[in-house]
Amino acid sequence: MKTIKVIFPLLGFCALLSLLPIGGKVRTDLWTSDFPDQNNYQFPDNFLWGAASAAQHIEHQQPSDWTSFERTVIAEGRTSTNPRPGYAIPGHINNLDAYPALVRLKKTNYDEMFDHDFSIAQTLGHNSHRFSISWARLFPRKGMVRPDKRGLAFYNEIFASLKAHNIQPLVSLFHFSTPDWFWEEKDGKRGWERDDAIHHFEMFVTAVVEAFGQHVSIWTTLNEPMTYVFNGYMEGIFPPLEQRDILGVAPVVAKLLEAHSRAYEIVHADANKRSKEVLVGIAKHTRAFEPLRTWAPLDRLSAATIDQAFIWDFLDAIQSGVMKLVNTDFELEIPQLKGTQDYVGINYYGRFYVESKLLDPAKPEIHFYDPNLPDEVRSDLDWAIYPHGFYQVLVAAHKRYGKPIYVLENGLADLKDNDKRRQQFLVTHLREIWNAINHAGADIRGYMHWSFIDNFEWAEGFTARFGLIKTEYDNEFKRVPRPSAYLYRDIIRSNGISSEVWNSYHKPHMD
Ligand code: BGC
Repeated sequence: MKTIKVIFPLLGFCALLSLLPIGGKVRTDLWTSDFPDQNNYQFPDNFLWGAASAAQHIEHQQPSDWTSFERTVIAEGRTSTNPRPGYAIPGHINNLDAYPALVRLKKTNYDEMFDHDFSIAQTLGHNSHRFSISWARLFPRKGMVRPDKRGLAFYNEIFASLKAHNIQPLVSLFHFSTPDWFWEEKDGKRGWERDDAIHHFEMFVTAVVEAFGQHVSIWTTLNEPMTYVFNGYMEGIFPPLEQRDILGVAPVVAKLLEAHSRAYEIVHADANKRSKEVLVGIAKHTRAFEPLRTWAPLDRLSAATIDQAFIWDFLDAIQSGVMKLVNTDFELEIPQLKGTQDYVGINYYGRFYVESKLLDPAKPEIHFYDPNLPDEVRSDLDWAIYPHGFYQVLVAAHKRYGKPIYVLENGLADLKDNDKRRQQFLVTHLREIWNAINHAGADIRGYMHWSFIDNFEWAEGFTARFGLIKTEYDNEFKRVPRPSAYLYRDIIRSNGISSEVWNSYHKPHMD
């Protein structure tokens, strides 16, 4: 009885507050945006259609921080089979020991199969492909001042194969993994916090543009810096496996901003020498952060704060040259950062629900899905699928920065052979891109589905399957295109979505 007495006035108070014009985010009941249907959803000419990957996901293991982590995890048995995929345990890689040493070493065996992969991509109509160049592959040993010749030769073959298959490369420079030696302590600091971190990153970027600058027009300096910081320095599920608070990660965020601005400058200087036009930006992880309970003002405000901190702070800093941390008085001007993005790279996976705790308002709980909605469409990682949120993010990015947008990642983990959810995901999210172009004037120029083939998914190991193409790990890494790969091919061929395709795939279901 005692609790009821306390809770009732509290609920009444919250209900009252929810009527006041308190800002914050609201939750929508939409799944897809409610624009009127058309006969056809035609995409702009020269739209880039492709898929994305990154080195540590697909390439043979290199001497990187992630490779060391993967090996330690096996040596120390930190491979808990997580009963709830999507909820990684700090310091563990889910179910990694279920895959043989050869798979752990070769990942997808891309090193031996990339030409085959690109020929499949070509037959599926892809005209572009996003991948990352491994820093550890070019600078495997401490103290190197020139890139490794075999590393250069490997990527030369990749660029040649892409060219032979008429596929335009989009290249990322930092996608979560670094050389292992980068973490040796120097003057009491490791990794990005070392005083010479930027110097080493500059050496890597310079080597990449000198060797491959002629092949690349769209560069991504950093992939999802805030995901990296969050997972690596706050949650402890990515190397360096630390758990700090928000102010504790500020020096790392500042270093990443500086790394971006230096890379921007180096890539442009190289392109100028070649009289080549390039676009340089970052890939930003976005989500639709919405209140779990719209009636709870604190949920709405917390959702808005997280949205700003996780999505926009980093991009705003690049735009303004000043790094800020929402809800703190932290402000730091980063030299030569201002305006260093030629496009905005958007990665989008779905909706997160924010539930604030009255007793600890600074630590709201983030739900991957709404526990009260049993039928909500979710991926195998439990992430709530929410195409309308994609529209909102694209339009927000367009309004904030007025720059071209490339969707650099969008996809879901779905192991089921019927592949229904992936087909539904693809069609509904592409329609939201069409909506953002046609109803909000966003200049969206390309779509890279995540991912091309199933691969090693960080702390989730090999269990989360993101590929348009299935990788048969127990059958010599055979590639088997899923139905969505063919559906995507048909969309690419017609450079649009027909009303038949839309009608067949847009209804939310969990099949
Ligand atoms: C990352 C990818 C990752 C994907 C799915 C993004 O956060 O950039 O490396 O595999 O999401 O989790």
